[in-house]
Amino acid sequence: MVMTCSDTIKERRSIRRYKPEKIPLEDIYEIMEAARRAPTDAALHLWTAVWVRDPQAKKKLAEAIGQRHIEEASDFFVYIADLYRLERLLAYRGDTLGDVDLALLVFAAIDAGIAAENMALAAVEKGYGTCFIGGVQNAVEQVIQQLRLPRHTYPLFGLTIGVPAEDPPPRPRLPLHMLFHSEQYHNYTVLDLYEAYQEMAPITRRGDYYRLLRRYVAKGGYFEERNSEMPEVLEKMGFLLNLKH
Ligand SMILES: Cc1cc2nc3c(=O)[nH]c(=O)nc-3n(C[C@H](O)[C@H](O)[C@H](O)COP(=O)(O)O)c2cc1C
Repeated sequence: MVMTCSDTIKERRSIRRYKPEKIPLEDIYEIMEAARRAPTDAALHLWTAVWVRDPQAKKKLAEAIGQRHIEEASDFFVYIADLYRLERLLAYRGDTLGDVDLALLVFAAIDAGIAAENMALAAVEKGYGTCFIGGVQNAVEQVIQQLRLPRHTYPLFGLTIGVPAEDPPPRPRLPLHMLFHSEQYHNYTVLDLYEAYQEMAPITRRGDYYRLLRRYVAKGGYFEERNSEMPEVLEKMGFLLNLKH
């Protein structure tokens, strides 16, 4: 049966358990091709991905990042904000790259996210499972070192691809009216907020979406921790964030 685009979108869910089977290379190249066809701001291609297939290299990354599914998956792609390639292209014609600033970083992250989702959907269409790995930020310096990333690059997130060994139910999402505003941004009513927790309850075994939100985004949560390292590493990689001004 041929899957339509919307079938594929509905079918996709994060897969964190994989069979120890390698994906045939011809499938991998087709999946990569889906990323290559993604839209890219001004045709700049602000992204790169490092394809990690070697079991030892995957194991090392899985241990550094602390997520076993990276090791179990057939392939792991680390998506990179890549201004180095542009620097080289400009230099080839005798020019100099401008400041590698926040605007370039943001647009590189947008380009990379779109390319990776194209890739994930192409993989699902072929019957494979995928999982995005923001946990790359937990070990960003080791990742930079292992992948030998040059200046003006930064690893944004990873994507595992493999033969699924689980079939989890689809995870819930916030109601449509909380994700889309009509014409202008509207504020949320108490009922909206209540409804959001009701809809999202099945996200954890305990039915507790609040616990998840606290762990990630409340004071002292993961994101504060990530943010305490990210600017420093970005500056080391040659990004000019001007955050102190
Ligand atoms: C940017 C991003 C980072 C993520 N990081 C991780 C991660 O480090 N580890 C993981 O197991 N899942 C990760 N996920 C998967 C999310 O947890 C998952 O997409 C979400 O819970 C919704 O579930 P679904 O993908 O099955 O619909 C990430 C997803 C995104 C988009």
